[in-house]
Amino acid sequence: MDDSTRFSGSVPEHYDTGLGPVLFQHYADVLGEEVALSRPHRILETAAGTGISSAAIAAHNPEAELVITDLNDGMLELARTKVPESTRIQVADAQALPFEEGSFDTVACQFGVMFLPDPAAGFSEARRVLAPGGVFLFSVWDSHANNRFAAIVDGLLRERFPDDPPPFYRVPFGMSDVEALRERAQAAGFGRVVIDVLPYETEVASWQGFADGLILGNPLADQVRSRSGDLPALIAATAGRLEAEYGRAPVAIPVQAIVCRAFVR
Ligand SMILES: C[S@@+](CC[C@H](N)C(=O)[O-])C[C@H]1O[C@@H](n2cnc3c(N)ncnc32)[C@H](O)[C@@H]1O
Repeated sequence: MDDSTRFSGSVPEHYDTGLGPVLFQHYADVLGEEVALSRPHRILETAAGTGISSAAIAAHNPEAELVITDLNDGMLELARTKVPESTRIQVADAQALPFEEGSFDTVACQFGVMFLPDPAAGFSEARRVLAPGGVFLFSVWDSHANNRFAAIVDGLLRERFPDDPPPFYRVPFGMSDVEALRERAQAAGFGRVVIDVLPYETEVASWQGFADGLILGNPLADQVRSRSGDLPALIAATAGRLEAEYGRAPVAIPVQAIVCRAFVR
């Protein structure tokens, strides 16, 4: 069965190097600043990954206690190298958090909620561990229409595997309906929800490096292997398609994220 949540094996390294600078660093800085606005004392990060967003949260909130969590230990191993020593690091499923209710002032989650098989549980858990006055700050990717690079990769996968295309590239871009996000948060007990759509022009230094991250830096790699796909050929084809679309690297490409702040009533 295709699993889009297993960021393990060599995935963390390819994710961090190939995707981190292009897709995650800018929005991590935005998230770190946003977290600091409410001057939290206790911050929980869920789906912290390799620590790109964790490092930004730590840098913008140096006085706060920070706990970072993720489902996959291999991702957290890299995160360990990026955060201050005082950071508590723990494997945890965002759908079943091992913390008491009201333990945190802010819960932050950058590009994680789309991976939860039961998103309602993830929103309820964030609400449960927040103290009165707390805020759940989370980001998701906007749709393929607003992240053309992802539509290109997904299109290539459909061409290469017409009978059974790997589903990964529909998951992170599949929770972009702003009103549905607001409803999900409110159904979990949050009050006011503030949502911003954030376009950004991000720099791609090398198509080969970015394509490496796009194919090997997430669970797609296993989905291709299980279909006996040729990973090096797919990376080369991805780099070629992206260069044909955007021109030779270095070049800036448009990406778009949605950042949500859900406040405890
Ligand atoms: C796209 S990465 C985002 C990582 C990091 N926040 C960043 O911005 O670089 C998604 C992360 O969600 C994690 N993840 C997937 N399912 C999860 C779950 N049920 N609970 C917690 N983390 C999960 C993955 O291990 C992966 O690290």
